[in-house]
Formats: sequence, C-alpha cells, structure tokens
Amino acid sequence: MEKPLLDLTRLGMRFPTNDGEFIALKNVDLQIQQGEFISLIGHSGCGKSTVLNLVAGLYLPTDGGVIVDGREVSGPGPDRAVVFQNHSLLPWLSVYQNVELAVKQIAGKQDKAWIKEQVMHYLDLIQMTHAADKKPDEISGGMKQRVGIARALALQPKVLLMDEPFGALDALTRAHLQDALMAIQAELNNTVIMITHDVDEAVLLSDKIVMMTNGPAATIGEVLEIDLPRPRERVAMANHPQYQHYRQSVLKFLYEKQSKSAVTKPEVKHAATEASAKAQDEPAAKADKPAARQA
Ligand SMILES: Nc1ncnc2c1ncn2[C@@H]1O[C@H](COP(=O)(O)OP(=O)(O)O)[C@@H](O)[C@H]1O
Ligand SMILES: [Mg+2]
Repeated sequence: MEKPLLDLTRLGMRFPTNDGEFIALKNVDLQIQQGEFISLIGHSGCGKSTVLNLVAGLYLPTDGGVIVDGREVSGPGPDRAVVFQNHSLLPWLSVYQNVELAVKQIAGKQDKAWIKEQVMHYLDLIQMTHAADKKPDEISGGMKQRVGIARALALQPKVLLMDEPFGALDALTRAHLQDALMAIQAELNNTVIMITHDVDEAVLLSDKIVMMTNGPAATIGEVLEIDLPRPRERVAMANHPQYQHYRQSVLKFLYEKQSKSAVTKPEVKHAATEASAKAQDEPAAKADKPAARQA
C-alpha cells in the first residue's frame, strides 16, 4: 500500500477541567490515502470535532500525533482547509471578495489576472458566478455554504476538513450540495474528512466510514469500506442492495453497539462544557434555518 497522505497515530486528547482531566480521545489510529473521502460518524459529544480540530491544527494533541504528507501538524495551515456548519464568511465582503481572500493566501507572486481567474474558477465550480457581487446576507444558507466550500477549495488544500457542513440545511438543499460535493471531488480528487450525523450522507459520499465509540476516551470502533461504483446517483443507490447493507451496518453500530444508554454520562461530569457547546450550537442553527429554506 502506498504511503498515506494522513497518518493519525495513537492520537489522544485530554482536556483540563475543573473536575480534573477529561479524556476526550484515546488511541485514535487512522491512515487516509490521497483522494479518499472519509466520513466520521458517532453520537454527539463523542469527539468527532476534536479529531477534526487536531488534524486542522486548531488543537494540539496531548498524546500521539498527526502527520500530513510527511510533516507533523503543529498548527493551522492552508494545506488543511476547514468548512464549518456555519459558513463563517466575512459579512462585509462580497462573495467574490470572500473567495479572493483565500486565493490571495496561496497566490505568491502571481498577478491580478491569475487571482481573478482562480476566484471565478472556484465560483464556477459551485455555480455561484451569478452572485459574485452579493454580500453573504443577500444569499440563502445553502449558497453561503457553497461559498464556504469554494473558499476552502481555493486554498488548494491537501486535505479538506468539513464539520457537519450541511447540518443546518433543509433536506433538499442538503441533497443538492451533496451532489455538488461529489461532482467537485470527482473532478479535483480532493482528500476529504467530513463529520456527519446523517447515515445516508455518509454512505452516499464516502469511500470509508469511520465510526467512533462513545466517550469518554472515545476511539475508532469500526471502519466500513463503501465499495459502491462512482458516480453515485442517489435514487439508484437507494435501491442498491449493497447500499442498504452499508446503511444497516452503520445504524447497527450507532443504535445497538454504541446506543446512547451505554454512555457513562460524560455530560453530567462536564455540564459546563456541554452547556457552552450547546450555547454555541443553538443560535447558529436558528440563524441559518430561515435562510436555508430559500436555497
Ligand atoms: N475545550 C474543551 N474543554 C473540555 N472539554 C472539551 C473541550 N472540547 C471538547 N470537549 C469535550 O470533549 C468531548 C468531545 O467533544 P466534541 O469533539 O466536540 O464532540 P462531537 O463533535 O463528536 O460532538 C465532549 O465531551 C466535550 O464536552
Ligand atoms: Mg462536533
């Protein structure tokens, strides 16, 4: 097997808390090849975002390490672009300018014409050239999320990291963006790690589904290889026997093997962190909902 692009070895994360140390992750081992599409799935609070933040370099691990293309991650960098659930576009800049910021980060000595060509290329990939001059609050939630993806792709990252990128969108918009992401990935052959709660999304998009056990000390429980032909068409897939089999395997892992009742209640011990996590989630989810409907 060729050398993996991403190598997570004995990765662990312990957070200091008022009640002492909280072991969020323990012994996470994962190798990802160039061009692979990986989904991370697991119950809320198990540690998915922590894994992503460690790969992004937003957190530094307390144990083990992350290697990307032969170099140990020691902080954030443009080789690892992140797309969050809530786009995080700069509201005072146009769609064009938001993507331009990313292009300028990697432009080096390239001239203005090159920058413009790049921006338009990524806007075209997400079919947003018509809205280049609009401000984020003038476009729908689905469109904002598309611009967030364009901005991330414009960095030409080695790895695209997505934390529930479609989680705040309605089902139809979500389906549309999943199709767009599959088409882009087929064209650019990006390496992607995507966190999702959605079993169908995971099966439809992934080469591998990485299923995490419940915390504390969460780790990888099972890895499911999705051997379905590409391009994948959602209606055809829904009737594919193998698709149903994969779907069942993930559901079984989540609701039988790792059912929530088996959790040793990290929430109780860490009421403060859970509460602050909720406080972060809620306004964002509300803010995106009305916009998402018009996508
Ligand atoms: N900065 C932090 N300090 C203390 N505990 C944290 C911190 N970040 C995350 N945690 C805890 O680590 C666990 C995993 O969190 P997270 O990775 O956000 O889960 P997920 O993304 O799977 O919902 C949770 O119990 C959470 O409360
Ligand atoms: Mg999370």
